[in-house]
Amino acid sequence: GLLRLRALGFTLAVASIGSAAAITRRDFPEGFVFGAGTSAFQVEGAWDEDGKKPSIWDTLCSGPRHRRCHCRPVSQVQGTLVSKLNELEDVKLMHEMGLDAYRFSIAWTRIIPDGRGAVNPKGLEYYNNLIDELLRYVSFPNLSYRLTDELPAASGIQPHVTIYHFDLPQALQDEYDGVLSPRFIDDFTAYAEVCFRSFGDRVKHWTTLNEPNIEPLGGFDLGFLPPRRCSSPFGYACNGGNSTTEPYIAAHHLLIAHASTVSLYRVKYQATQGGQIGIVFLAFWYEPSTRKPKDVAAAGRMMDFSLGWFLHPLVYGDYPAVMRRNAGSRLPTLTDEVSARVRGSFDFVGINHYGALEVEADLSQLKQTLRDYTADTAAKILTFPFQSLTKQLGLGIQSNEAPSSMQKLLDYLKLKYRNPPVVIYENGVGDKPDPSGRFVTDDEFRTHYLQGYIEATLLSIRNGSNVHGYFVWSFMDVFELLFAYRFRFGLYGVDFGAEEKTRYARHSAQWYAGFLHGGELRP
Ligand code: NOJ
Repeated sequence: GLLRLRALGFTLAVASIGSAAAITRRDFPEGFVFGAGTSAFQVEGAWDEDGKKPSIWDTLCSGPRHRRCHCRPVSQVQGTLVSKLNELEDVKLMHEMGLDAYRFSIAWTRIIPDGRGAVNPKGLEYYNNLIDELLRYVSFPNLSYRLTDELPAASGIQPHVTIYHFDLPQALQDEYDGVLSPRFIDDFTAYAEVCFRSFGDRVKHWTTLNEPNIEPLGGFDLGFLPPRRCSSPFGYACNGGNSTTEPYIAAHHLLIAHASTVSLYRVKYQATQGGQIGIVFLAFWYEPSTRKPKDVAAAGRMMDFSLGWFLHPLVYGDYPAVMRRNAGSRLPTLTDEVSARVRGSFDFVGINHYGALEVEADLSQLKQTLRDYTADTAAKILTFPFQSLTKQLGLGIQSNEAPSSMQKLLDYLKLKYRNPPVVIYENGVGDKPDPSGRFVTDDEFRTHYLQGYIEATLLSIRNGSNVHGYFVWSFMDVFELLFAYRFRFGLYGVDFGAEEKTRYARHSAQWYAGFLHGGELRP
């Protein structure tokens, strides 16, 4: 029969009973969460409003060095952030879309403008308002409404909060080189504590760091992320640095900062607040370019050097053996005391998965005299992330088959890392905005991509993987880290040229809403 749904202000017709193979969200385990995400720096704008001070991203965007666009992210929020009209509208759109959860990050310098010390009440107010608004929306099967007075304890759109998403306070970069210094550990932990204290009564899903396994590379080797201390194969202007050691040192401090924050949460907050805490990694699946043993081994090394860099210490208390071997003394040592604190310091593992990258062996790199992370991997990546959509789709999606990269990744987590609870925090695909200037909403390719990955997630769950949630990146178009507004991931398109920053539901938004309201995955 046909089930008619009101969503996004128009009527969707979805077949409620399809073929035997038809997937709906009821096929997912009880309590499985579907959501979508953004990050603070990429949507908030207002970098100097209401007491906020600059992060290293604000600095990058204000200088001549942002290669793609000498611009700052546009505020997608109208007026000052605290009055934030659009954000209220966005939460309404999230509710209409049927999201169980919204993933966003907190801007450290909105809460603690100098990175350490005084807390900015307007920063707290901004996130308090956002969290309260999310929790106000309550859904029952045939009824949905926005509460106006009391907040319900356990309903509404669940906030999944990333404490740190690349936007380090500039003050800490200036004072002690940010994550290169062990001083980062205490400052991060103190900032996280302010978040727990201020929001933990309502936030039950925390992640400490977003993609700490790419930040050291982007910031201290390849140079595509601030602070751009790098040797720059991509031709970015570099700020010096020593890429042979710095990525490993930065990662080490990020890892310990994470563990120290989790210890703090467990000791002081978890019992009373009852939340869960994890961390989020960039997790491509590395696929060998041939079945030759050396290429298969190279792909394995890339998994160890990327995901294993953090997950191995978190599960087993030490860096992967191949990293210790190839990086030697350039890789810091985890002392027994630190190792014990790091091991087990997560309730769940967040993964950002965008597909597979092809890898071949390049053992000649091990002979270089001045080796860095890239040379230590002794592998060469043949596809650049997001470089070629068709190539990625080719690796992941064959006609109607589910993308195998997600299944392989989840199997890998199951077998190698003892099947931790997983939340897929980012999955999505970017494209260029319409060159004609007309706003593109016909993104069937994105719908197709997401359908494939959601199906793959379900197949993995049926195969024993411990997955608890799936979030599309991104809820709406955001300022993309490397490409500014020239590469869009949003379910909702945003017209950045327009005064109102109007949101446009793309095909993928309409399809996701249909699925979340009970429709078939492939209607
Ligand atoms: C990685 C990051 O977490 C996010 O900030 C970025 O926009 C997307 N993935 C896409 O590159």
